[in-house]
Amino acid sequence: AVYHATATAPVNIAVIKYWGKTSTKLNTPTNSSLSVTLSQDDLRTLTTASCSAQFQADALWLNGAPHDVSNVRSQACFAELRALRKAKEDRDPSLPPLSSYKLHLVSENNFPTAAGLASSAAGFAAFVRAIADLYDLEETPTELSRIARQGSGSACRSLFGGYVAWEKGSRDDGKDSIAVQVAPESHWPTMRAAILVISDAKKGVSSTAGMQSTVATSTLFPNRANVVVPARMEAMKKAIAEKDFETFADLTMADSNSFHAVCLDTVPPIFYMNDTSRSAVRIVEEMNRCAGENIAAYTFDAGPNAVIYYEEPAQDIVLGVLKKAMPAAIGWSDKYSKIEAKLPD
Ligand code: DP6
Repeated sequence: AVYHATATAPVNIAVIKYWGKTSTKLNTPTNSSLSVTLSQDDLRTLTTASCSAQFQADALWLNGAPHDVSNVRSQACFAELRALRKAKEDRDPSLPPLSSYKLHLVSENNFPTAAGLASSAAGFAAFVRAIADLYDLEETPTELSRIARQGSGSACRSLFGGYVAWEKGSRDDGKDSIAVQVAPESHWPTMRAAILVISDAKKGVSSTAGMQSTVATSTLFPNRANVVVPARMEAMKKAIAEKDFETFADLTMADSNSFHAVCLDTVPPIFYMNDTSRSAVRIVEEMNRCAGENIAAYTFDAGPNAVIYYEEPAQDIVLGVLKKAMPAAIGWSDKYSKIEAKLPD
């Protein structure tokens, strides 16, 4: 017999950024982070996990191409999920011994993997969710987030919809470094996100390598991780609870700029934003200044693409201004919006 389960996981975009690890083995972060999960219609990974006594080796196909699973991150996820299944089989010997079978994973993104749009987050979250479903595990998303974190840090946040905090934890074994939902998507129904694809080139410095280098060399970094972010985490949770877009936007933009500042303070410096990214910053800043309040907030991950948060009533003005100032924008879906504006570097 071949056993199957299929799951999806959406992309999340951090408004308080994860940047820096205390352990590269456990993927435990130097600071807590907070993200907004995007709509499944726009950006998600769909993964089917299957297992069988006949399979010879663990294997993964991503968008049709075979993908290496010998890396420590995939291995850690496989091992943890198998251990949970094994414990379940030990409790109930009538269950088929799926924990001893090899796994085949078939994964597909509905967005370009190369676009630097947090594909590892959705990828590892769907990986863990699909195997957990195949194994019929009863663990909560928070418990599974501990496993997804070991695949890719940001993946732990994609096991939930809505507003999600990844609490860094303090234990050496990483057991309390987990994701929790701060508020469901329905809590703030007017929230929207637009993604401005500025370049779909593969990023120069991977997040994993970049954050290691920042931790090792940036003199600004300890202040960010130990002082600035802990205060922002609390302020951000309050802003979300109160649906206070003014504060949400201030914190989101400040934290993106702080993250890119520690990248610039890294030796050698890391540049993720380009001239087009910076013009998006200027447009949003100018738009907010003219409106006399924050109607949009930008944030940039480890690449030049902008994610713009705004509230639905401001959609026409925010997207109108952006499309006019940045040519070639195309369509969006109704829930969380997406502009795919292909702009020259
Ligand atoms: C800038 O989760 O990709 O997007 O744990 O090494 O896989 P690894 O890093 P990753 O880093 C994401 C960094 C970020 C900020 C964020 O998502 O919080």
